[in-house]
Amino acid sequence: MKDIDKALNVEARSGLPDDLLALLRKFPRDQWANDPSLHGLAEGWLQRHDLFRELSVLIGGMTTDLREGRTSPAAFPPLFQRRMGLLLGELDGHHRVEDEYYFPSFAAAAPKLQKGFDILDNDHAVIHGAIDRLGTASRELIAALSGEVSGRDGDALRVAERIAGEIEGFDRTLLRHLWDEEDLIIPLILERTRDDPEFG
Ligand SMILES: [Fe+2]
Ligand SMILES: [Fe+2]
Repeated sequence: MKDIDKALNVEARSGLPDDLLALLRKFPRDQWANDPSLHGLAEGWLQRHDLFRELSVLIGGMTTDLREGRTSPAAFPPLFQRRMGLLLGELDGHHRVEDEYYFPSFAAAAPKLQKGFDILDNDHAVIHGAIDRLGTASRELIAALSGEVSGRDGDALRVAERIAGEIEGFDRTLLRHLWDEEDLIIPLILERTRDDPEFG
């Protein structure tokens, strides 16, 4: 884990520091869709992030439905396990590629942004701890629900309430990370692919 200022931790900050956003000011978000360089690496990156956002909304929604009695304890587990497995597994793989390939290669191409990559690297470590906790909480919820379905007292509602809180916290952290990573990386890709279509 990289050593960063505590105020820049993903759970504390409300965006990247201004000195890392010079390229974003040149390539603002509302222009990304019109940029011919978006096609390819940058677009793929945003689509991947959107998949994570969608899954986290779906998982949060279905957990709320369970707590509020709109989903039965028998119907909930298969879809929950599929979506949670997909989110946590894909996120883990995505971060691995970023850590091992993209962050080092982008930082070498743009040394002024090194602090930004350190911040994102630290985010990944925080998110990985959260992935482990959420995986454990998810298994507890499934076990409690199966107790409920088979007539034992699994106390599923109490577990569902706790996991809903974990999911909310996880979403906040994840959304902050995805947004800030896009602010740093998408403008860099848009700028560099103009001169070098093979950039990345
Ligand atoms: Fe990331
Ligand atoms: Fe990412």
